[in-house]
Amino acid sequence: MGKMRTQSAPWRAAAVLASVLLVGGVAACGNSDTGGGGAKDDGKITMGFSQVGAESGWRTANTISIKEAATAAGIELKFDDAQQKQENQIKAIRNYIQQKVDVIAFSPVVESGWDTVLKEAKDAGIPVILTDRSVDSADKSLYKTFLGSDFVKEGKLAGEWLVEQKKTASGPVNIVELQGSTGAAPANDRKKGFAEAIAANPNLKVIASQTGDFTRAGGKQVMEQFLKANPKIDVLFAHNDDMGLGALEAITAAGKTPGKDITIITIDAVKDGMQALADGKFNFIAECSPLLGPQLMDLAKKVHAGQEVPARIETEETTFTSEQAKEALPNRKY
Ligand code: AHR
Repeated sequence: MGKMRTQSAPWRAAAVLASVLLVGGVAACGNSDTGGGGAKDDGKITMGFSQVGAESGWRTANTISIKEAATAAGIELKFDDAQQKQENQIKAIRNYIQQKVDVIAFSPVVESGWDTVLKEAKDAGIPVILTDRSVDSADKSLYKTFLGSDFVKEGKLAGEWLVEQKKTASGPVNIVELQGSTGAAPANDRKKGFAEAIAANPNLKVIASQTGDFTRAGGKQVMEQFLKANPKIDVLFAHNDDMGLGALEAITAAGKTPGKDITIITIDAVKDGMQALADGKFNFIAECSPLLGPQLMDLAKKVHAGQEVPARIETEETTFTSEQAKEALPNRKY
């Protein structure tokens, strides 16, 4: 036995070395921390994407942008619509982990409650990209980057415009607020930014604030309640165009003229919102761009290749008055 061991030692050492190289090689090709959990190594990137839902014109434009950009970039896209439910997103992300996709991207319905599933993705070696909305996880290593708007800034821009418009107001200016989906980053942040900005003028008071869930139906229904409960409403701040568009119906049905009797400020600047602004029914829009697809695919390629990416990529945005909306509408892409 001793003789045999002595004779086979060099061969065994070579075999061990070969298997170490082989395992290392496979890991480097497909299953590394940076390169994703890819079971197959056909050079093609597979992205699992979990979308919030189809609640607004903004969301529809965002979904189209992501699908078109994936095709253009040659990235295989697995797409799931979570119908505005966090549990559906968690289920979809777990499915993507099981399928060993190369990259997971998602727009979180709400900010909280993601640590466990993000840790599962990290442990599986699949990089995660947050797009449009972020999470409140303290451990920033759970995702590679966050691509999206500064929602606090959007709320601030809306509030600053109002402060300027009402600077000569001698009495109280009653504001009602249609919030986005409860717990969603854009709802939390836009509310915060707006409140910070209007604090500059003590005449500006939010007298009612409720969620309309980012939908037209929600905006209409809640605005009806606001109008019944409050005889004097001077301003509506809606966290997105769709809720503002729904509210238009309620305001008109109540015999008031939107844009005149009630000043209307919204966020997004989708085509229907821009049309309402150009028509004088809305008064001001802070833009939130849904065209995130091309940047997202670019980031997916980079994280898959193990390249460093910035931890935060902010979308460039602007604001629109009625005159600016008239000019921009003919070339508006969404
Ligand atoms: O997260 C972006 C927001 O979500 C948009 O402002 C809104 O329209 C959408 O539903």
